[in-house]
Amino acid sequence: MIINVDLKHTDYNIYIERGVLKKAGELINLNRKVLIVTDEGVPEIYAQCIKEQCKEGYIATVKQGEESKSIEVFEELLLKMLSLGFTRKDCVVAVGGGVCGDLAGFVAASFMRGVSFYNVPTTVLSQVDSSIGGKVAVNLGKIKNIVGAFYQPQAVIIDPETLATLPSRQISAGLAEAVKMAVNFDRELFEKIEKSENPMDIIDEIIAGSLLIKKRVVEEDEKESGLRKVLNFGHTVGHAIESVANGELYHGECVALGLLAVCENGTLERVKKVLSSLNLPTTFKAEKEALLSAASHDKKAGEASISVIICEEIGTFKIKEETLSELSQRMEQFYL
Ligand SMILES: NC(=O)c1ccc[n+]([C@@H]2O[C@H](COP(=O)([O-])OP(=O)(O)OC[C@H]3O[C@@H](n4cnc5c(N)ncnc54)[C@H](O)[C@@H]3O)[C@@H](O)[C@H]2O)c1
Repeated sequence: MIINVDLKHTDYNIYIERGVLKKAGELINLNRKVLIVTDEGVPEIYAQCIKEQCKEGYIATVKQGEESKSIEVFEELLLKMLSLGFTRKDCVVAVGGGVCGDLAGFVAASFMRGVSFYNVPTTVLSQVDSSIGGKVAVNLGKIKNIVGAFYQPQAVIIDPETLATLPSRQISAGLAEAVKMAVNFDRELFEKIEKSENPMDIIDEIIAGSLLIKKRVVEEDEKESGLRKVLNFGHTVGHAIESVANGELYHGECVALGLLAVCENGTLERVKKVLSSLNLPTTFKAEKEALLSAASHDKKAGEASISVIICEEIGTFKIKEETLSELSQRMEQFYL
């Protein structure tokens, strides 16, 4: 399947096909110097498979995990390109999850003011979400994604077969982002996930369905000045949980918990059921003060409202301005 993302100044294809990794060279121009950015947790065969199709490919393997999204690693990769004599005509390919994609994309955006970038995502999260939309970034200290750019890939190549090696907890965490998008935008996709006994049986449909949603949203609002904010559904509370969970929960698991605070009426029970069927957490406890301060970025009670995206009916969303105490009520279930 090919999905075309059509933006104001550019467009690009997303290729979704089992086994497509082996024919990447037919879809993208690897007939030049290629920096393949991967990490130690990604099975080597995937980067190797891309390298074999390059005229002059170099694999850069960074440490796995969020720490690699740093200015230091960013600089190392740029220095590597410089020392290998990369020019503006060469390119960067990310082979891995969102960490590799965000890092490699920012390297591509920055080297000589921008070289071609291709994304080959290999986690559920990156296949359903992070590989499209052009947000590339590294972290600064403890602040996530604070240095980066909007830089679109020239193509995205998704081979669902790469998920065969992904640990099941990572699969579930990625599916949380797909559920998130379906809840707001696509009742049919939500119901497919709801009815499936094993989501991996329909993973190709979940990937395509999620990307079609994200494509629509990004095409309407490339730089997140409006509709794209809806993709942060569940993230205000999710991020707060993530910041107090001390790295014990994956991002997708925190998003799953965050959804429970913003689904209303009959949707809450359905969403909860789907999340537990995907082995995602549906309970969490922490100190009220810590959670509330993380969710409100230390806004004082009564000061400025907080935009909260809620869902009252599957496939739809509403944006509400709420006070800190209303937000606190939403989080009551998570207080010790
Ligand atoms: N740019 C965006 O729009 C966007 C959106 C959402 C999230 N993100 C970012 O994405 C990152 C999270 O991405 P992620 O969840 O993919 O995590 P990740 O990139 O850290 O990958 C998770 C783990 O899986 C391993 N892995 C990757 N592919 C594998 C495979 N096929 N088989 C076995 N192991 C494999 C990795 O080595 C890593 O240890 C965060 O940094 C987040 O900020 C970006």
